[in-house]
Amino acid sequence: MAQAQALASNPTSSITPEKVRDGIEVEINGRPFRHTGDPDMPLLWYLRDVLRLTGTKYASDHGLGGADLVLVDKKPVSAASVPMHELADKKVTTVEGLAAADGKLHPLQQAFVDEDAIGCGYCTPGWLIASLDLLNRHPQPSDDQIDQLPNLCRCGCQTRVRRAIKRASAAMAGGHA
Ligand code: FES
Repeated sequence: MAQAQALASNPTSSITPEKVRDGIEVEINGRPFRHTGDPDMPLLWYLRDVLRLTGTKYASDHGLGGADLVLVDKKPVSAASVPMHELADKKVTTVEGLAAADGKLHPLQQAFVDEDAIGCGYCTPGWLIASLDLLNRHPQPSDDQIDQLPNLCRCGCQTRVRRAIKRASAAMAGGHA
């Protein structure tokens, strides 16, 4: 009875305030950000809904097809699968971070344009991130290595993507990066 009277006089007395979050510091495309929202928010939604970096695409909650790939500390990661709390003090690179500061396209981006390797474009950001990682590990990748990338293209651009990656490989080897 006494508790009911206390609640009636102060209806907020039963509410436990949520702990104030310190925030998660993360660097994205060379710029510092602090995420103070839900620590379990997937990186993909932070990029798209908070920062409005919409290049990275949703394919599935588990990254199937590779359209949501980003680099985290230079390693390809599914942005749909990784929660913000795992990104404290990490460096994230999205497709928006590939071009030079003056807007000059990265050799991979230029090669995709030159080889007409872009259909609807939905899969393209993921291909660019995956192939950048591939070229970092294997500057002159074989067809098999390219074909082992996890990316899918429903527009059927795989053959042109393969040519684009080889064109970028040659450009980067020739110092045109
Ligand atoms: S270009 Fe359309 S899904 Fe690949």
